[in-house]
Amino acid sequence: MALAKGNPIPQIAAMALKTSDRGLIPPFIAMDVMRAANERETAGGPVIHLEVGQPGTPAPRGVREAARRALDSDLIGYTDAAGLPPLRQAIAADYQGRYGIAVDPTEIVVTTGSSGAFQLAFLAAFDAGDRVALAAPGYACYRNILAALGLEAVLIEVGENAHYQPNPELLADIPDLAGLIVASPANPTGTMIAPDDLRSLYDYCRERGIRLVSDEIYHGITYEGVAQTARAFGRDAVIVNSFSKYYSMTGWRLGWMVAPPDLARSIECLAQNFYISPPALSQLGAVAAFDCRDELDGHVARYRGNRDLLLAMLRDVGLTRFAPADGAFYIYVDISALSRDSVAFCRRILAETDVAVTPGLDFDPIHGGDWMRLSFAGSRADIEEAARRIAAWLPRQR
Ligand SMILES: Cc1ncc(COP(=O)(O)O)c(C=O)c1O
Repeated sequence: MALAKGNPIPQIAAMALKTSDRGLIPPFIAMDVMRAANERETAGGPVIHLEVGQPGTPAPRGVREAARRALDSDLIGYTDAAGLPPLRQAIAADYQGRYGIAVDPTEIVVTTGSSGAFQLAFLAAFDAGDRVALAAPGYACYRNILAALGLEAVLIEVGENAHYQPNPELLADIPDLAGLIVASPANPTGTMIAPDDLRSLYDYCRERGIRLVSDEIYHGITYEGVAQTARAFGRDAVIVNSFSKYYSMTGWRLGWMVAPPDLARSIECLAQNFYISPPALSQLGAVAAFDCRDELDGHVARYRGNRDLLLAMLRDVGLTRFAPADGAFYIYVDISALSRDSVAFCRRILAETDVAVTPGLDFDPIHGGDWMRLSFAGSRADIEEAARRIAAWLPRQR
């Protein structure tokens, strides 16, 4: 029956439709802050972004040129679910170059960011209801992806004494673990696990049948010490990495895994069915990333300068308790002298200074109300201006 113009649509009594409890996970608050900051920016606000871990630089020149050439000459079609063979070879070769470890290209699975790798790894390694331990503070999405997949996130409180990282002593009291996620350097704390300690964790997990997932996304961005890969100790751990951070390619949505042999086929089948393949254009560009070290190491030198500038500013205004920031590009700072509600505090900083920062609650549901995270991956000029605005604003909050 055609509705006459202007007639209301007839109302049909409807049953309530089912919605899933699995989808009811917390937001990734950093992205909520970014949306709010983007809205202010669109409205003309002079916003500076310290809320997301995003380099203020594009992909290296070599990658952009390779992608341009590919656009002109390549089909940009589906690739193998595990990624283009030349890219898998280049990633495997980098393990030899960077860590002196022989990795076979067939171990590498290219993914849609490391975010895609986590979904595949967690599904391949764990069953619904399994318990997976992770550090608090730690990267919010581990916890939230685990929740969406019906896994139990078991938080390990890692304070200053533990150098903000899990260790075998902290794990000893936790029963029935199927997995452990670690990140070194870590987000939000920037802390690193020394190579010997990573070996101890690897052995601890191996001996107890706990699957270690090692997030190595911040390798290459280190200021004190060298980051070791858990792949150095054997093939049981899932190694996760990405082109987003060191390679300055967040929006290209490309990451990878070094997959343990007993998970490889399962991961491949999951990838085929979930995503078919990772983005082809990004893969064709990324092959060139490993020849761009000079440009990329230049970014790391800038991050170091930005870090020192922000640390000096925070000390000047009396905020003196931070995690060490030995790597990655974040400062995780205790704001409890000013506020115990980091969400409201960060909202006020954005509203009153146009500097976007992330509340600690994103990373730590236990103590995160007392902390906030500043990303220093932006340009020097942005960090200087943000530091100036925060330094003028913070003392007024006492
Ligand atoms: C520790 C950590 N792991 C993983 C990711 C996800 O990155 P991507 O999906 O861009 O590789 C991030 C992003 O901030 C991160 O900080």
